[in-house]
Amino acid sequence: MRRLRLTTAGESHGPGLTAILTGVPAGLGIDLDFIHREMKRRMHGYGRGARMKIETDAVEIRGGVRGGESLGSPIAVWIVNRDFDNWRAVMDPLETEPARVEKRRVHAPRPGHADLAGGLKYLRSDLRDVLERASARESAARVACGSIAKLLLADVGIEIRSGVRSLGPIGIERPVPSWENLLEVDDSSPLRAIHRDLEDEMVALVDRAKKDGDTLGGGVTVIAHGVPAGLGSHVQWDEKLDGRLARGVMSVPAVKAVEIGAALRASAGPGSEAHDPIELLDGRFHRPTNHAGGLEGGITNGADVVVTAYKKPISTLRKGMPSVDIDTREAHRSQYERSDVTALPAAGVIAESMVALVLADALLEKVGGDSMAEVRANLENSLRLQRHWPRAE
Ligand SMILES: Cc1cc2nc3c(=O)[nH]c(=O)nc-3n(C[C@H](O)[C@H](O)[C@H](O)COP(=O)(O)O)c2cc1C
Repeated sequence: MRRLRLTTAGESHGPGLTAILTGVPAGLGIDLDFIHREMKRRMHGYGRGARMKIETDAVEIRGGVRGGESLGSPIAVWIVNRDFDNWRAVMDPLETEPARVEKRRVHAPRPGHADLAGGLKYLRSDLRDVLERASARESAARVACGSIAKLLLADVGIEIRSGVRSLGPIGIERPVPSWENLLEVDDSSPLRAIHRDLEDEMVALVDRAKKDGDTLGGGVTVIAHGVPAGLGSHVQWDEKLDGRLARGVMSVPAVKAVEIGAALRASAGPGSEAHDPIELLDGRFHRPTNHAGGLEGGITNGADVVVTAYKKPISTLRKGMPSVDIDTREAHRSQYERSDVTALPAAGVIAESMVALVLADALLEKVGGDSMAEVRANLENSLRLQRHWPRAE
């Protein structure tokens, strides 16, 4: 990211999570209730494990905000891990109890997790040293800061929503959803499914996987609505906004593919069906379809930005997977630790946060501004020039 910078720290069962978000202009209203509602959305979802019943994810703002308004200085966030009370002997930053540490030592890496690759890289004999940070618990810090990015975007009329598009094989054939489809997603439904007619079948699939000691993946679609044309750029590979969005969304734990618009379907058909006609409607440029997902040449074109994240099934299986004990070098089933069967609804909320952070970054890059008043005025000016284009005023 160029204008915004996010750094997080903290282990899954350590004392808590810290995040620092740099680059937020001064004068943004920071609504803590909104941030907490977003944190709750991340914890929701059928198929999640017991951990989410322990945590309440209260966000404490420790810098960069005064009286509910951003100051333009780095925003510091702290989220306590309530589960740390149960793990102090194993995870205390300074003093641990060797017998308890040994009992919780991870020595049979889980395929699909960072355990083996991270153990080899950092030469840790307890793979917990890797998995504690690789755990998706870190994403709570991203959602806290992603919700600040959402507040910034909402200030200029940009909204972001998501929904579960497919779970395992269920729903994978359905077309890319629209903004109107996402408006119908019920956040309190078991899986936040876009296709409500498929939700019962999805819930039954989660139950079956749970019974079998297995796990599930799927697809979540995020849409940003009200995005102005002209964010991102075609001029340099690392300025292309589709690539920047893909990077942000791919960094969500377990996301292994990112689709912009209807890319998969489009790749299988002819160009005449893939591209969106350009029309004039009431004197304005208009696209009757949005297969491109709001991005052409790495630049937003004024249509909704549509990003789908495909998540692999959760890596920790209750029934285990073939693995090797790193001590004995003999075959050993991978170890089990309390885990989710699927976390797709939560992954959607985290992906929303990443889309918000990347779009807010691109917006600030486009219009600049040290204060929100400047951001608003600059954007308005930019939109006015676009309306007159290609004529001078
Ligand atoms: C919200 C969320 C919750 C997750 N919960 C678990 C879990 O309980 N157990 C697990 O093994 N993996 C879980 N994962 C997935 C792992 O974090 C992920 O598979 C692991 O970090 C390796 O993914 P990577 O290859 O993308 O880095 C979760 C992912 C997300 C997004």
